[in-house]
Amino acid sequence: MTAQIIDGKAFAGKLRDKIGRVAAEFESEAGRKAGLAVVLVGSDAASEVYVRAKGRATVAANMASFQHRLPADIAQADLLALLERLNGDPAVDGILVQLPLPGELDEQAIIAAISPDKDVDGFHVTNAGRLAVGQEGFVPCTPLGCMMMLTDRMGDLSGKSAVVVGRSNIVGKPMAQLLLDANATVTIAHSRTKDLADVVRGADIVVAAVGRPEMIRGDWIKPGATIIDVGINRLPPENGAEKGRLVGDVAFAEAAEHAAAITPVPGGVGPMTIAVLLRNTLVAAYRNEGLTLPENAL
Ligand code: GUN
Repeated sequence: MTAQIIDGKAFAGKLRDKIGRVAAEFESEAGRKAGLAVVLVGSDAASEVYVRAKGRATVAANMASFQHRLPADIAQADLLALLERLNGDPAVDGILVQLPLPGELDEQAIIAAISPDKDVDGFHVTNAGRLAVGQEGFVPCTPLGCMMMLTDRMGDLSGKSAVVVGRSNIVGKPMAQLLLDANATVTIAHSRTKDLADVVRGADIVVAAVGRPEMIRGDWIKPGATIIDVGINRLPPENGAEKGRLVGDVAFAEAAEHAAAITPVPGGVGPMTIAVLLRNTLVAAYRNEGLTLPENAL
């Protein structure tokens, strides 16, 4: 079997177009644009790239982008004061503090200071709790994007056996919750799991989010499984190249011989994350204005 490639870039592009159209409708109804505030502390090169990309995507989707760049040595109290101001700003529907934070800043306290109703990253404990008990809230962007691609590809996931490899708060745990809500039978595997290959061999759905390059091998894959690879790892440079290749947590070429469908790296899950961030911001905007999002709009 040779797997179909799940084109995350194309999928995300369609979602972003749809968001742009609904955001224009929101603007005409509300008399203002939906707004996303992104806070970047310090000058981490990768974070700079992500934040710029988020700003561009926000504007391209007919929303307002507010970027706050702060020095790496900012006092915790000053950052908390900015978040307090953004929480109270009616032009701001979503707030995202780019992680990781530099220095001594207390990440948990900073996430906790974002209003749960503007927490479009879905990282606040209130939103984690809402997801756990099945209440409406914000779901972290990467797992929600994975779920959209899975249901688009497979339809009903009821009774499917799903293995999530990785147990982070940002991807693994919320991914497992979403699969469970969709009536899949879910296993969360991690670095201490015994016989991981055998656990993965039982899965109709594999979501890999461990951050280890090409750890999941082709002969671990059940024939006909669907594979979502969240990992983005850069290998050491070869043959005098300046940069190494980007690979996922799954050995792509091997796995593609067994799977029915698989996301590539790059071009799979990655592009979905920003698209879902825009989606969450627009959902926040409708809620904040007390307006009803058109049925099945997003
Ligand atoms: N750093 C890397 N990815 C993310 C993300 O999705 N949200 C935030 N806030 N920081 C990140």
